[in-house]
Amino acid sequence: MSCTVVVDGFFGDGGKGKIVSYLVVADDVSVCARGGVGPNAGHTVVDNGVTFKLRMVPCGFVNHDTRLLIGPGVVVNPEVVLKEVEELGIGERFGLDPQCAIIEPKHIEADRKGHLKEKIGTTGTGTGPCNSDRALRVVKVAREIPELKEYIADVPAELNDALDAGENVLIEGTQGTYISLYHGTYPYVTSNDVCASATCSDVGIGPTRVDEVVLVCKAYVTRVGEGYLEGEISQEEAKKRGWDEYGTVTGRQRRAAPFNYALAKRAAMLNGATQLAITKLDILYPELKGASDYDELGPEAVAFIEKVEEKVGLPVTLIGTGPGVKEIIDRR
Ligand code: IMP
Ligand code: MG
Repeated sequence: MSCTVVVDGFFGDGGKGKIVSYLVVADDVSVCARGGVGPNAGHTVVDNGVTFKLRMVPCGFVNHDTRLLIGPGVVVNPEVVLKEVEELGIGERFGLDPQCAIIEPKHIEADRKGHLKEKIGTTGTGTGPCNSDRALRVVKVAREIPELKEYIADVPAELNDALDAGENVLIEGTQGTYISLYHGTYPYVTSNDVCASATCSDVGIGPTRVDEVVLVCKAYVTRVGEGYLEGEISQEEAKKRGWDEYGTVTGRQRRAAPFNYALAKRAAMLNGATQLAITKLDILYPELKGASDYDELGPEAVAFIEKVEEKVGLPVTLIGTGPGVKEIIDRR
């Protein structure tokens, strides 16, 4: 039995979706639960050549036996979640907690003007204003929404029961360590903590139940919205290096910088990480695209991985070599 938490070590968009979708299949995960903030997240999963862009539903959907849950800490846009459930055809195995907070049109409106838009550069999805109303205890929760009724589930009980029964559970975080409300570059952060312990709280798992924390770090750093980014390169230079990425939710070009060892090390500390996943290594070293064996890496790529392990002090167990679920080196 094992309980694995997956979180991002930089500013989000590190490729958690791909790592989660690989792990649910490889480890035959019976329950995959999403913590994190809300539909401000965008996860990309490429399964058998088909690209899925998700904002609410756990990326574990690619394993057809996996139960998919959204924890009470998450704020939910009913329209977005219902659309994803229908498009993926996962209604039979999907559940969300009765206490998920509900985003209403007024939250989206408030998120698209004033200092949230101009100063913070939020995703405009209503996530922050909804969390604000939740703190004021005036927000609606999922159990009050008739359209969600058939999916209501006791998420903490399901997860803890699965662990008691000796099954594999995966807890999916969202966003990234440095846009955490507590540990990020405040005020240029999201509206909740997003580190591993917060993610466990989001879904109702206590700290003693966790076995592994996988810290996902992309082979270079990107950030959307405002806030300091050490070593930031120009958008032109990012294009030259193939580091130009565009937001899953907002379509904005992400700002880019080289891999940051100090940030990765601090993120490992903040999250209590036990292992590292390095994603998009094929963008730095195109010759290894699609590799699934460590022996396929050239000397420069090996030197990079070894330097990461030495500087962060953790083993790099998973290496992403392309967007596909199977384009991965698993050294566990
Ligand atoms: P909010 O979470 O929409 O309030 O946005 C606050 C900040 O977090 C902005 O800089 C967003 O671009 C950033 N952000 C929120 N969610 C994500 C994510 O999933 N990936 C990357 N950045 C995010
Ligand atoms: Mg994303």
